[in-house]
Amino acid sequence: RLTTVVIDPDHHRGRIDRRLFGSFVEHMGRCVYTGVYEPGHPAADENGFRTDVEELVRELGVTLLRYPGGNFVSGYDWTDGIGPRENRPRRLDLAWRSIETNQVGTDEFLPWAAALGVEPMMAVNLGTAGVNQAAALVEYCNLSEGTAWSDLRRANGAAKPYEIGLWCLGNEMDGPWQTGHKSAAEYAALANEAAKAMRLVDPGIELVACGSSFHEMPTFGYWESTVLEQAGENIDYISMHAYYEEFDADRASFLASAASMDTFIDGVVATIDAVAARTRRRKQINVSFDEWNVWYQSRFPGTEAVAIDIAGPRIEDVYSTLDAVVVGDLLSSLINHADRVKIGCLAQLVNVIAPIMTEPAGPAWKQATFHPFAAVAQAASGHSLVTRVGTSEFATRRYGDVPTVAVSATHDPETGQAAIFLTNRSEYPAEVEVTHRGFESWSTTDVRTMIADQHGPRDRDASAEVGLVSLAADDSTPGRTVLTLPPQSWTVLRAD
Ligand code: AHR
Repeated sequence: RLTTVVIDPDHHRGRIDRRLFGSFVEHMGRCVYTGVYEPGHPAADENGFRTDVEELVRELGVTLLRYPGGNFVSGYDWTDGIGPRENRPRRLDLAWRSIETNQVGTDEFLPWAAALGVEPMMAVNLGTAGVNQAAALVEYCNLSEGTAWSDLRRANGAAKPYEIGLWCLGNEMDGPWQTGHKSAAEYAALANEAAKAMRLVDPGIELVACGSSFHEMPTFGYWESTVLEQAGENIDYISMHAYYEEFDADRASFLASAASMDTFIDGVVATIDAVAARTRRRKQINVSFDEWNVWYQSRFPGTEAVAIDIAGPRIEDVYSTLDAVVVGDLLSSLINHADRVKIGCLAQLVNVIAPIMTEPAGPAWKQATFHPFAAVAQAASGHSLVTRVGTSEFATRRYGDVPTVAVSATHDPETGQAAIFLTNRSEYPAEVEVTHRGFESWSTTDVRTMIADQHGPRDRDASAEVGLVSLAADDSTPGRTVLTLPPQSWTVLRAD
């Protein structure tokens, strides 16, 4: 059956927040050490950061980086990571059973992110620490001078405040695996008090409270409601996390992961709005989807089984082009919810379930998932368009019937540029007719696609070689473009 897509520049859900295309740097495995930071590497700069990784980060186009965790932050004392490096303690990190050398901390990460032109999103420890440590970090980062913490920052070499605008109130506090895990009521009370104190230091900051760690958490819904009821006045976003993988060789369900992401987002937004209605709160709280990706969790041992080491590898998934197709489709889900999802973080940036990999003392390379992310971060700007899609149903075991072809689209009224992102989830080619009405001009400039199974599963050498390939449109006339999507593929179409 022919898939039909209708888009119109006036029919949109508002501007996409560019922070939707963020990523995540956690002190975990080789993300920081031998990932972004490797003194002595031939490509390292004078501060020990790898310039070859920086080049790939720029090419990836990430706009925001969450730091320093993740589960790591729930045991982290940020004061360990400031001041002269030779005095910094080596601590046992319980989240990942690693020895944290603290050679990278706030005063190394923030200048590095600034030099890359990427906005930082800092997380505070609400697991083993609390209100004081959180407020002190805001003071250290954001206050100009004249207090103990701001003067210490100056003494440590940062004369100007870092002016961090976005803060996470802990990480996955609903998860029993989290160091200092809390009940919903305990977390809500702590997050509220931390938020109040942090905002008293700097009233201009935005705050993200923890939502559920994943959709299947038994406390999902109840957790969000409790946090929103008790802390809603003092927060701006509630977080979402989700990782997808192929279970039991059920490829169809895996290809439909973005349909599951849609349902998850709709559920969180409905909960936010239900609590707002019940409590008569007028302020709109939005979503920070600050961890998402494909992650084959079933392939890695639990942390308890890992021997304690320093920057040893953790969850270094090697991605296939099938995984990249799913990543592209997950990005479409985020774009289609851009009216409420303002922040997104592909977890993580380097080596740990990441689009960028490094060999210690060796080269840095791109995973297959790098390509759809970079293409979307580059092409998606301006408005998130409402798409009217007519397509067949695609049957899945986990999620029931979902659309065979999934679509998102963007249009920038300032530049006139438009982009359409299409996923064909089925094992057959899909013919698609796009009707683009009301655009002042439309000239299809580029169509590129990522096809599943370009190489064997999780082949490290082949992964580094793959990319998007050009696809010719079947027909393009004013107001209408027809193209055939290869089976199990993700495609980006750009027009001026
Ligand atoms: O990204 C890896 C881990 O996944 C993070 O530390 C944690 O927040 C999540 O469970």
